[in-house]
Amino acid sequence: MKVYLDNAATTPIDKEVLEAMLPYLTEKFGNASSLHAWGREAREAVEKAREIIAKKLNVTSNEVIFTSGGTESNNFALKGIAFANKDKGKHIITQKTEHPCVLETCKWLESIGFEVTYLDVDKYGMVSPEDVEKAIKKETILVSIMHANNEIGTIQPIEEIAKICKDYGVYFHTDACQSFTKEPLDAKKIGVDLITISSHKIYGPKGVGALIVREGVKIAPIMHGGGHEFGKRSGTENVAGIVGFGKAVEIAKEEHAKHMRKLRDIIIKRVLEEIPKVRLNGHPEKRLCNNANFTFYGIEGEALVMRLDARGIACSTGSACSSHKLQPSHVLLAIGLKPEEAHGSLRFSTGKQNTEEQINYAIDVLKEEVENLRKISGIV
Ligand SMILES: Cc1ncc(COP(=O)(O)O)c(C=O)c1O
Repeated sequence: MKVYLDNAATTPIDKEVLEAMLPYLTEKFGNASSLHAWGREAREAVEKAREIIAKKLNVTSNEVIFTSGGTESNNFALKGIAFANKDKGKHIITQKTEHPCVLETCKWLESIGFEVTYLDVDKYGMVSPEDVEKAIKKETILVSIMHANNEIGTIQPIEEIAKICKDYGVYFHTDACQSFTKEPLDAKKIGVDLITISSHKIYGPKGVGALIVREGVKIAPIMHGGGHEFGKRSGTENVAGIVGFGKAVEIAKEEHAKHMRKLRDIIIKRVLEEIPKVRLNGHPEKRLCNNANFTFYGIEGEALVMRLDARGIACSTGSACSSHKLQPSHVLLAIGLKPEEAHGSLRFSTGKQNTEEQINYAIDVLKEEVENLRKISGIV
């Protein structure tokens, strides 16, 4: 049996999404900026997708800026706000468990003269809104706190943080790549200024995403050129990708999140009850519906991933982006794990396509392989 439990890294393209995209890769190939019929057809498709996404987040269509994905959207949010508001101040606040595309962008901004505060998180990976408030100073221009963590699934108190930012007149950005369509997110109600989303986490194609930029937010483009996307992001639109992204959002249902949660809960329950010397990482309740992250004491995570892979099961030792590195996950270190504990940690992320039978098979195999590895190592 093959069981893909790495849906936080990426998801397969849904059949309906693929069907919606195909005409835009073949006969409807126009450039959305062209004036002729081919161009108008492409433009119409792009605008339809924009509307679907805008509606989902309760923003207006012209607040949806298509990009090449979550990495670009996060770069755009941080650099764009930094460059456009540097006369007001050069201070940015973020936190230690952000995705590398936020943290590395912050490091780069520091290298050119910006100041960044990296807030600590508690043992569940949660940021304290009071800490955000305390860190705000006269020069602060932006607070960037992710909605849900990609490794441990912890959901941040973004409503409270957004309110604080509003009170202090500071822009608030949230990276919602992992939570989009899984957790409700009403931009107007919460009062968030910028939101990052990505298509391939929600059964859409790779290489497409968006940054929501609320009206009135002062942001500089980072891609200069022909002035596409309301002058905010130049480059010929990835029409088929955008159509696929729109379709993925349109077909995302609450039942899918419920299904993922049910499977996630089976994983958590069985692993904690049936495998000795295990700890669940992340928040016990405020966590993404599809995330289960464990430390298996005395185990080398990479070895376990490879053994599971050999038996048809896909999971990950951390975020996909860092799983080729040998350094322990910065997220697990930030919640207080020792490096060897972080190395012994695995993430299972469920998807709408997974079945209960698959989950039970995967846990049966996991139990065997943990036992085998512990026998070999003799550590536990
Ligand atoms: C929380 C988070 N932010 C950003 C990204 C980057 O998104 P993309 O792969 O679309 O560049 C990811 C993907 O791993 C993610 O999980």
